[in-house]
Amino acid sequence: MLNMALPKGRLGEKAYALLSSAGYGSGEYSDIGRKLSFCDEKSGVNYFWVKPADVAVYVERGAADVGVVGKDILEEECPDVYELNDLKIGKCKMCVAACKDFKDDFSRPLRVATKFVHSAEEYYASIGRRITVIKLNGSVELAPVLGLSDVIFDIVETGSTLRANGLKVVEEVSEISARFIVNKSSYKFKSRDITQMSEKLNGVVETC
Ligand code: PRP
Repeated sequence: MLNMALPKGRLGEKAYALLSSAGYGSGEYSDIGRKLSFCDEKSGVNYFWVKPADVAVYVERGAADVGVVGKDILEEECPDVYELNDLKIGKCKMCVAACKDFKDDFSRPLRVATKFVHSAEEYYASIGRRITVIKLNGSVELAPVLGLSDVIFDIVETGSTLRANGLKVVEEVSEISARFIVNKSSYKFKSRDITQMSEKLNGVVETC
């Protein structure tokens, strides 16, 4: 059996639909209810639904052989896993955003509110801008509005959260999408099953 960690929520639904098109999965995602795991004997896959930010932890430590995780989380956590496929779902952008009247004041460090501390530090180091990071766990769009930060460093998908809070994109930093990741020793010991899943996923991604 292959143990697979999927992110709960919207991305997990899309990933599960992709797996179903590739010949895996059985039944509807909506049937899962509150149960966090489900065994598909026919295709030989055990699915676990975990918090999106935890998928890479399960896979890195071998509790899951494979998983689906956003590139934003891979860039932030740098887990020791193989990244095999770009699944081209969950597409969004990592952006810097600020209030509409924002002007950078280079005489002092820029105050950056974000969930993605490591990625923000890397980005600003790469452009040589001094920053003070303000770590938040969500609703980061409020930070510049309330004067807690100058900018936010966050993912933007439709842009509606920014618009609703009167913010604008200042810089597009990177493109994000979901990736199929693999535990390093599982890749050796379950290589046939994992390669097959990766190839089948590639097949459906290409035709999407
Ligand atoms: C994410 C992200 C933005 C929003 C962007 O938040 O942090 O707030 O989605 O999407 P949009 O461009 O389509 O509006 P999430 O829904 O994960 O909630 P959070 O505030 O708890 O991070």
